[in-house]
Amino acid sequence: MRTTLTATAAFQALQQHHTENKDRQVRHLFAQDPARFSKLSAEGAGLFLDYSKNIVDDKTMTLLYALARETQVEAQRDAMFAGQEVNRTEHRAVLHTALRKPRNEKLVLGQQDLVPEVHAVLDRMGVFSERVRSGAWRGYDDREITDVVNIGIGGSYLGPKMTCQALRSFAHPRLNTHFVSNVDGHDLDALLTRINPATTLFIIASKGFNTAETMMNAQSARAWFLRHAKESDLSKHFVAVSTHLDAVQAFGIAPENMFPFWDWVGGRYSVWSAIGLALMLSIGPECFREFLAGAHAMDQHFQQVPLEENLPVILALIGIWNRNILGSSSISIAPYHQDLRLFPGYLQQLEMESNGKSVQVDGSKTSTTTCPIIWGDVGTNGQHAYFQLLHQGTDVMAVDFIAALKPTHSMQQHQVQLLANCFAQSEAFMRGKNADEVRADMQAQGLPEAEIQKLLPHRIFPGNRPSNTILMETLNPHALGALIALYEHKVFVQGAIWGINSFDQWGVELGKILAKNIAAELSDKAKPEQHDSSTNGLIARAKAAL
Ligand code: F6P
Repeated sequence: MRTTLTATAAFQALQQHHTENKDRQVRHLFAQDPARFSKLSAEGAGLFLDYSKNIVDDKTMTLLYALARETQVEAQRDAMFAGQEVNRTEHRAVLHTALRKPRNEKLVLGQQDLVPEVHAVLDRMGVFSERVRSGAWRGYDDREITDVVNIGIGGSYLGPKMTCQALRSFAHPRLNTHFVSNVDGHDLDALLTRINPATTLFIIASKGFNTAETMMNAQSARAWFLRHAKESDLSKHFVAVSTHLDAVQAFGIAPENMFPFWDWVGGRYSVWSAIGLALMLSIGPECFREFLAGAHAMDQHFQQVPLEENLPVILALIGIWNRNILGSSSISIAPYHQDLRLFPGYLQQLEMESNGKSVQVDGSKTSTTTCPIIWGDVGTNGQHAYFQLLHQGTDVMAVDFIAALKPTHSMQQHQVQLLANCFAQSEAFMRGKNADEVRADMQAQGLPEAEIQKLLPHRIFPGNRPSNTILMETLNPHALGALIALYEHKVFVQGAIWGINSFDQWGVELGKILAKNIAAELSDKAKPEQHDSSTNGLIARAKAAL
């Protein structure tokens, strides 16, 4: 049985260290150490990480690095990069990092170098994308493609959609990208009324090509298309991305219109593969290769830089400290960039589907809590919605601020305001405002003493609320690639410390099976099963209405 986390010497030392320093205030730590910012920040792959506003000091960090060493994070990392069977419950290697290796590098799995295969698919995607972008690829009535519809869900949706949104300032002006994921017909229906079948390209994106939602949306899109065009026109308007050629062919898409990837790529780690086709169509093959290069730069940083300067390791360890020692149950992701508005949702799958587990690789229970809840929205919007709770609520939650220094627009004043708000929020979370400061403010405003007494407790900010700030120069394909890879590796390091398999997702299976049975009952294809009275009652009400 694996040593549980709580049994490690480093974890126990961290608990002890916390007990001895329960009352420390980060604002005092800043006052005591003018070098705190430069000591507790790091840089790599074009990203800058300031973690100085967390409730840590040099000793905390030393103990956290000891924890990473004791739980063999480096050996586990090297095993992943080398293609060992890291995903043990599915008997698979985990090699999304191979997808961003440059052409001249090697990665041998079994007897085979994967890199040429990866680049052969990238090259095919590149040729196809250029044909669509240039207008050489024509629809059934000889018009150019104007709309690209990605049909997929989970990792076959969140990655392409988030990245297309994030890099919209690099998008081809003629191509509109759309994403349909939900089995709820309102999703597809709303889109079909807005697009023209003659100028639309559908990408059916599914690793397994058997995901219920995607297959139903794909069949409905196909049926809609065939109401306007002939069967022989399908090949100009439907392409597929999958690891399952047979299933793609059975759907009616020819192998030349399929872009493959491999079972060593997990769904939530697949945006770098052909699953990124919608992104490549939008930003072009050259920018897509920059996106891969950004991720590769972060891979190299993660592999080569000592733990003490290693961005994903630091982000992960700060997360472990906040979650397992300080008891913080969520991280709010706050991108101060409108184009990153889908990033919190993307991270929800990446982190929560990867590390939302409570058993270790060997099947034994974890001894600590694992993945916190990931949520959030762009700044400054969140400030006017839920930041109240983050500042003064009963739970202490961590925040990751993410900002680009230079905008891709020319409205300088907006950028000044945006960054000012971002930095002000992290300062406010850390500093807070104590009773003396609040009192002095109100006295300066000339409020009567009785009013001051009444308002004082409401206007105090406890502060000492932890946050990280991640900065990039500008949001471009390289920076986005590095940012996503930073979080991928953070997830890996945390999974390694918690001793869990970050690469399976058995927890999504039960609902899928039950939904299949209930769908058969709702459509009278199966006799009602004996469910609990709630489920029976809900089914009966739906049957009466359908
Ligand atoms: O149900 C969860 C899941 O398997 C995710 O892990 C995956 O990203 C998603 O479904 C979609 O799977 P596929 O690409 O095979 O359709």
